[in-house]
Amino acid sequence: MDENRIVSSLELEEDDGDVSLRPITFDDYIGQEKVKANLKVYVEASKRRGEALDHVLLYGPPGLGKTTLAHIIASELGVEIKVTSGPGIERAANLASLLTNLQERDVLFLDEIHRLNHSIEEVLYPAMEDFALDISTGKGAGATSIRLNLNKFTLVGATTRAGMLTGPLRDRFGVICRLEPYSKEDLMRIISRSARLLKISIDSSATAELASRSRGTPRIANRLLKRVRDFAEVYNHGVIDLAITQKALNDMEIDPLGLDYNDKKLLHALVEKFNGGPTGLDTLAAAINEDAGTIEDVIEPYLIQLGFIARTPRGRIALKGAYDHLGVKYGGVQQIGFFDGDDNNE
Ligand code: ADE
Repeated sequence: MDENRIVSSLELEEDDGDVSLRPITFDDYIGQEKVKANLKVYVEASKRRGEALDHVLLYGPPGLGKTTLAHIIASELGVEIKVTSGPGIERAANLASLLTNLQERDVLFLDEIHRLNHSIEEVLYPAMEDFALDISTGKGAGATSIRLNLNKFTLVGATTRAGMLTGPLRDRFGVICRLEPYSKEDLMRIISRSARLLKISIDSSATAELASRSRGTPRIANRLLKRVRDFAEVYNHGVIDLAITQKALNDMEIDPLGLDYNDKKLLHALVEKFNGGPTGLDTLAAAINEDAGTIEDVIEPYLIQLGFIARTPRGRIALKGAYDHLGVKYGGVQQIGFFDGDDNNE
């Protein structure tokens, strides 16, 4: 998949400027109401007790604001945040140095925590549980280990793949929050807020159109807002109305629901090649020449939210909405074998 596609939920270079769009407090942060309400309680309680907040794991599809929430947690706690990522930590010593530099109650944000090397992960266990580093010295029979105490800190881990975390790591998080794709209404509020901050004037029908085509993802909404502003600049004297928004999005080949070529390819394969499924993830991945992890993390969450596909124990199935959207006649779900409605398995 081309990760530079305009509707990619992964962070692109052009998103860097978004820092100014990032909310700083829980009250500025739109949506994810349950997660936000619970985190507010935990942050407030830890502040009242003067203790470090328990370790927090944030998981969910890319672009929904995991990094933003980590920064908000730190700023609401009134502490510093140090930022790193699983693939960014090459040696245990790198992690040890980050940990020893944390002040009391600071936040360490570890993005893509599922990609942390397993031997490095073991450094985290005593650090998270006992706020200690075990350092081995010497070799062979004379080898000993000394324990170094750390300041009490909060690890905020983020992942698109909670299922890929090892049990021991997952168990060490006291707070686990799952982020969901945003509703159209929340995206409209986010777009209005971003437009205000960027001094862009946009009418409500254009805002609604952008929200519908942003795949439930603020990062995409903010990116599309900027591209639509470019089209308006060149074709419409800078005025963002419904017509120029539709033209811009159509020209970028983003359909009315925000689906692009990759989403369509998956839906067409499931509906036409596999007769609506059930089709195993790996089979589907091979059929469309796509990585199974990308399908699971990046493409599917929005298609599931739309009610276009479902994960069943026997594999993926296309639902009526997908057929309607593609303009293909729906023949019902194939009744092959047992289906108990549990959609978590392959
Ligand atoms: N920008 C990106 N995500 C946001 C959110 N959830 N609330 C407000 N602004 C945002």
